[in-house]
Amino acid sequence: MRHLIDPSNLTRDEVDTLIEQAEDIKNNPGKYADVCKGKILATLFYEPSTRTRLSFESAMLGLGGTVLGFSNADASSASKGESVADTIRMISCYADICAIRHPKEGSALVASRYSQIPVINAGDGGHQHPTQTLTDLMTIHAVKGRLTGLTAGFCGDLMFGRTVHSLVRSLAGYEGNKFIMVSPKELKVPNYIRDESGCQIIAESENLEEYIGQMDILYMTRVQRERFFNEEEYVRLKDSYILDKEKLINSKNDLIVMHPLPRVNEISVEVDSDPRALYFEQARYGRYIRMALLMMLLNAAA
Ligand code: NCD
Repeated sequence: MRHLIDPSNLTRDEVDTLIEQAEDIKNNPGKYADVCKGKILATLFYEPSTRTRLSFESAMLGLGGTVLGFSNADASSASKGESVADTIRMISCYADICAIRHPKEGSALVASRYSQIPVINAGDGGHQHPTQTLTDLMTIHAVKGRLTGLTAGFCGDLMFGRTVHSLVRSLAGYEGNKFIMVSPKELKVPNYIRDESGCQIIAESENLEEYIGQMDILYMTRVQRERFFNEEEYVRLKDSYILDKEKLINSKNDLIVMHPLPRVNEISVEVDSDPRALYFEQARYGRYIRMALLMMLLNAAA
């Protein structure tokens, strides 16, 4: 039985296979309509979500399976004090696979240790978010045709942004990728991510305009309010970066602007119509890659 807790749980070959499979699903959805017939996905969401939970559910439904779960901790026995370990023991009796999102770092790993079914980490606190990374890799591959030799700029909350941590970890495993980290000094990418990923950071700055011209990818992120210890600090930092048309003037024509969404203020809506804005398309890919992932973990074939 396999789990997906961290991007490193998948080999590079497996990621390539998932992307290939997801592209085939996108082009031939009918072929996959029954491959998970009779299978049940449980979505255990202890934290808010729109895209991740709904794309997981839509993915399972698109494969002919069914879904159950909860979308907030108050609606589950967590509100009565039940531990993740006990909850997952129960869920293992009711479903064939589960996706879990939880505010505490490491909770998906804990769940996987007590589970009888594959566990997918759908975000554990400010730690990792491997299925967003698969979505991001599929998007980059679809547009750039490769995952190597790219200069990726990450901008915003690099400290608490779990999507950043997982994507940096994955992209660092491909040859020739370089990283430009743009954040306020309070929200720099954590040392453990730099050290473990071995990512090649060519610049680290508080100034987006200075480096935007070197980037092939600009990955914007929301300042993660829910991870702050004090609201004043959040208010002070929340609008550190607002990408608008003017800031894009010096960027490459084939830059892609990505964002895991939800966006708050960090990308002005005037950017949405720019051909470089890819974030809504990116969200669409999330469903296909999750279909491919569910198939892989359930050993389903078309
Ligand atoms: C992200 C998350 O939950 O980490 N959203 C998502 O899954 N697409 C990013 C965020 O909430 O800022």
